[in-house]
Amino acid sequence: MSEADRCLVSKSSVTGFAAPSLLLAEETRQKLHLKRITNSTEGHVFASAVAESIGLPLQALHQHVGPYPMFRPGHDNSTDTHQRFYGQHEQQKNHYRDLCRRVIRCIGEPCYVQQIPTYRFGLPNNRWVGNFHRDSDFGHSRYELNAICALTPMLGSAALHIETTDGSHDFEPMELKLGELILFDHIDRLHGCPINREGVSVASVDFRFVPARFVQDAFCSQATSINTGIAFLPGHYFSDEPLADEPL
Ligand SMILES: [Fe+2]
Repeated sequence: MSEADRCLVSKSSVTGFAAPSLLLAEETRQKLHLKRITNSTEGHVFASAVAESIGLPLQALHQHVGPYPMFRPGHDNSTDTHQRFYGQHEQQKNHYRDLCRRVIRCIGEPCYVQQIPTYRFGLPNNRWVGNFHRDSDFGHSRYELNAICALTPMLGSAALHIETTDGSHDFEPMELKLGELILFDHIDRLHGCPINREGVSVASVDFRFVPARFVQDAFCSQATSINTGIAFLPGHYFSDEPLADEPL
């Protein structure tokens, strides 16, 4: 079967007849929902390295940057402070690869990984994601998995809130300790942020994975990232090759 035919089968299956690989991907994502990685060296090293590069106390970011107008959809990742986070990422490449490997160890199989994680920060009296959404609303593939690493503690109204079950509109905070990681179902469950009423700033990265076993069906979409316009494909949004939990 040609690649075009294979993609056609995969796409039609999403709308009606689910491909076996899609069922497996859904099962994997649901199984890993709210799986935490606590006290990892990789999470703490990454969080410390980013804070050091930014050169500001991340929990007191609001004393040094902003304030900004209320973050809105499509305009919640492009301030000068976001650019400051992205501008230092090149220095974190090795730490970021180690962080990805730690998550892959938890997932249990080699994965393509988001090449540059999505950096987020939230100041008091603002929110750090523009609206409540599912990432599938923005063209993200149902074959993806998603993880967050907290660069500060993220508690109460400063935590990402996520539906307890898909479609319930009943939200609970996904509270995280500094350096803690969590996988969550970003595809089927609405998630977003209320206004941060905690009086402290928060920061995090979120980053996506596609298990290598799904490569045939996962990368058929022409969709691109809303923030960067980059195609959700290997060599673009995702790594050229899959990453394993240990160097091969
Ligand atoms: Fe999201």
